[in-house]
Amino acid sequence: MTDVWSSRADAYRSSPTHASDPDLDLVVEMCNPRAGKKILDVASGGGHVTRRLRESGAEVVSLDPSPGMHADVLAPAEHIPFADGSFDCVVTRIAPHHFTEIGEAIGEMVRVTNGEIVIEDTLYISEEHEEAEKLRDPSHVRSYSEEEWRDMLVDAGLEIERVEYFEKTHETDEWLARTDCTGETAERVRELLAPLSSDGGRTWHDVKLIVKARKSQR
Ligand SMILES: C[S@@+](CC[C@H](N)C(=O)[O-])C[C@H]1O[C@@H](n2cnc3c(N)ncnc32)[C@H](O)[C@@H]1O
Repeated sequence: MTDVWSSRADAYRSSPTHASDPDLDLVVEMCNPRAGKKILDVASGGGHVTRRLRESGAEVVSLDPSPGMHADVLAPAEHIPFADGSFDCVVTRIAPHHFTEIGEAIGEMVRVTNGEIVIEDTLYISEEHEEAEKLRDPSHVRSYSEEEWRDMLVDAGLEIERVEYFEKTHETDEWLARTDCTGETAERVRELLAPLSSDGGRTWHDVKLIVKARKSQR
């Protein structure tokens, strides 16, 4: 993996859609944090989930493979350097669409939790939206539908406990600037996003899926 993320670290630390949107409140609530609860934040990025969970008294370890994100542990989701069942909860927010090996990443997250997993990610909308995401950020791998998420999590031995949807609005200029997407590429991205855009293209929206699942007792 190239370290394109380290150069974006400040932009993701200050991004309003990452730092403070209500989906962050929902993810934190679904982790049910309390003093002493051990939680692993996978692909911690600007550290917003970690910060909020620590404010609730949980013992949180952040993990991210990009040095510039300054996580506690430098590692990808596909190779988590902890023993089986090390955490009460594993959370990952707005990141799995960047994981190159989604099956391995889910397997690792399931292995290191002794109970819960909370995942937020962009829901699959259309091939046009996927193309726009990849043009804007070549590290975008793929977004998945709710059915695909359910299948992947059940196949990994989890029971789905709660599913929520969250519509997120992006300021288009700011969203393109965060990954340095300019010129003809940016124009093509705007064209592809037209069906999802409002205010003459000033904003566009996607939908986030937030899933809480638990290791099956069977
Ligand atoms: C959009 S940011 C995450 C946002 C963060 N979770 C939040 O709530 O603000 C995406 C992060 O995924 C990380 N990442 C990319 N590929 C990864 C992988 N294979 N495993 C774990 N993290 C990865 C990047 O380094 C980056 O920090």
